[in-house]
Amino acid sequence: MSETRTTPQDITAGVVASFDDCEDPRLREIMQALARHLHDFAREVRLTQGEWTDAVRILTDTGHITDDRRQEFILWSDSMGLSMLVDALANPLPEGATESTVLGPFYVPGSPPREYGGNIAEEAGAGTPAWVFGRVIDADGNPIAGAELDVWQNGENQLYAVQDPEAEEDHLRGVFRTREDGTYAFVAVRPTPYTIPHDGPVGRMLQATGRHPWRPAHIHMIVRAPGFHTLTTHIFDAESDWLDSDAVFAVKPSLVRHFERRAADDADRPDGVEGEWYSVESDFVLVPQSSNGAGG
Ligand SMILES: [Fe+2]
Repeated sequence: MSETRTTPQDITAGVVASFDDCEDPRLREIMQALARHLHDFAREVRLTQGEWTDAVRILTDTGHITDDRRQEFILWSDSMGLSMLVDALANPLPEGATESTVLGPFYVPGSPPREYGGNIAEEAGAGTPAWVFGRVIDADGNPIAGAELDVWQNGENQLYAVQDPEAEEDHLRGVFRTREDGTYAFVAVRPTPYTIPHDGPVGRMLQATGRHPWRPAHIHMIVRAPGFHTLTTHIFDAESDWLDSDAVFAVKPSLVRHFERRAADDADRPDGVEGEWYSVESDFVLVPQSSNGAGG
């Protein structure tokens, strides 16, 4: 009787074949590719048993630290650039459309509706005021009236309202609508760089690999309009630190905006704003739902 040795390739082939009878073709495709890539990964780095034991411990710690306010699995996805990649694959936007970027973990649905030009800072001392204005338009430059801008950001203390037990629930967030000519405007504050949570497994990975946990200053927005694809994006402050090394890889050069410094006595000063302020202009170009190539 001839002796046949089982090779590493035989092991992989057996696992891939175990999914052959899966009735859901998409699930079959995903599980077979996952098995192939996972095994190839272990082969490529010659994964040791000790390293695999460490990995299981890290995954276990990731589960233990996750609850309804802390999502360490999303942090892994963000810090490995997978969130950005999945977004890019889902939203291959046509030329001229505003680029999307990650939603991030601090979005809370149900922001208060606010009037044109309204202030999203519910509390004093949130930061230097910034007049954010522009238009929501289609790729031909036609205004989109009644588009919704759902906006949220952090303050000078680096925190989003949802992270800050001292802050009002609606602090630094709001929903605005464009006027007939597609224009929108609101008073925000100049945003501040902040760190992603780094006291857990992802933080230990960043530390061990010589990476930092910082994100460059930005304001989040979701732009929605009937008949158009919803756009989830940021505007980034062109003068912020960390633009070239965002911990979650969310910076796209087309989303960087210049915050223009304005004097206290500037004639364009918005109502209710005192002292030094900034203005920043940003148009958002949406893609019609009938257009091919764009998803979700
Ligand atoms: Fe953010």
